Amino acid sequence: MPAAEKRNLAVLGAQWGDEGKGKIVDLLCEHFDIVARFQGGHNAGHTVKFADKHYSLHLIPSGILHPGKICVLGNGMVIDPHALLTEMEKLASLGVTIGDELLISDSAHCILPIHAALDKAREEYAGGSKIGTTGRGIGPAYEMKASRFGIRMRDLLDEEILRGKIETACHEKNALLKTVYGGEAFEPESLVQGALRHGEILRKRIVDTSIVLDEARRDGRRIMFEGAQGSLLDIDHGTYPFVTSSNCTAGGIATGLGIAPKQIHEVMGVAKAYTTRVGSGPFPTELLDDVGERLRKRGNEYGTTTGRPRRTGWLDLVVLRSSAMLNGFDEIALTKLDVFDEFEEIPVCVSYDTPDGETRNWPRALVDSEKVRPRLKTMKGWKKPTIGVREFDDLPQEARDYVKLIEDELECPIAVVSTGPRREETIIRGGVLAAV
Ligand code: GDP
Ligand code: IMO
Ligand code: MG
Repeated sequence: MPAAEKRNLAVLGAQWGDEGKGKIVDLLCEHFDIVARFQGGHNAGHTVKFADKHYSLHLIPSGILHPGKICVLGNGMVIDPHALLTEMEKLASLGVTIGDELLISDSAHCILPIHAALDKAREEYAGGSKIGTTGRGIGPAYEMKASRFGIRMRDLLDEEILRGKIETACHEKNALLKTVYGGEAFEPESLVQGALRHGEILRKRIVDTSIVLDEARRDGRRIMFEGAQGSLLDIDHGTYPFVTSSNCTAGGIATGLGIAPKQIHEVMGVAKAYTTRVGSGPFPTELLDDVGERLRKRGNEYGTTTGRPRRTGWLDLVVLRSSAMLNGFDEIALTKLDVFDEFEEIPVCVSYDTPDGETRNWPRALVDSEKVRPRLKTMKGWKKPTIGVREFDDLPQEARDYVKLIEDELECPIAVVSTGPRREETIIRGGVLAAV
């Protein structure tokens, strides 16, 4: 495809989330006109740091920090209007002006307090076999969408429809909450009044965003698709049932925004130099010892959304191969290389040993039943500070070897290497950022 036609870019998490998507999207923003989220909700936590500022974004695309960019919350998302308004207020208190450029799909589904209560009640009931959700009500809201009695953002603007839908939802969910989980029922009218109030404040932003995106296409404007979560948390392709409830892989972009798949011109994967995950589920390279704790401390691996300590482990190239295959990565942004600065040795998982022999490709069923053992290749650590390095050639040889090993194994260019949380702490080696 000629460079001029490569207008739109997807930026997607390549592991189990928290790869540093927020930082990378923020870096790319100035080259795009629109930033659009297509799935998930306020389970996401994207951190952006620059100057002395620190922002945590949950529902709002990182483009909001760049004046004049249109930010879209797509139809594939589940939106808690109260959480959205709270996030808008928080941003305003940090000096971010939110004008008319923040748009919400009228077909996106709503999360109400009853969804979050059900999410938490189920997790509590599941005890040791819980998923470890963020407790935000994501699963219950997507369930109602699939069951075809979901409440959509446009419903907040019509009292009669809203009341009918909330009564139907309460009829079923209250029974579940009370009878199955021994919790408190919700009073439908208080949910109606809350939702109407939120709808009134958000009214001017609730539109058909797929038309907005189509107009952008006609005008030749550039759109960035900001992923939330990561490939291995995808409801279809992740480590089911320990996943989120949406398609966070590239396949979810077209349905989650109402655009044609051919509008996704390029895909960038964001991968951490090691692996983390929050919540339960298989994690073949997990480190349960003091090395894992060292990674957690050095990488500050505590959830942006829930504050939970993240599980940590070595980089898993089997995971990344699967992710590159599912998403069709054109390039990768490798983040948090600096976290390894004090490590003597850095093992990397290149393949798995399984009861059926060695494999380099993601063996879904065997991973789910925890029958894989990582085969590690040990790389030499660099033992020098790389934080803030901006040129690839200024990295120690061992750090360059680490990056090149990943590139060779995945047969995908590592176009960006991130050496710190801030914008300027970045090496641009090629790809989209070098082309602009
Ligand atoms: P996201 O959900 O993918 O946007 O990632 P999070 O924001 O949840 O977590 C990534 C964390 O790593 C944030 O605290 C970032 O500020 C931080 N971070 C991003 N890139 C780097 C990096 O290259 N080095 C270091 N040390 N921290 C980074
Ligand atoms: P970002 O966008 C990491 C995980 C939860 C849990 C599972 C299901 O910041 O990368 P859910 O509340 O979605 O039903 O929880 O998914 N999870 C994330 N883990 N980063 C995220 O988002 C996540 N969003 C959800 O921890 O294991
Ligand atoms: Mg995060």
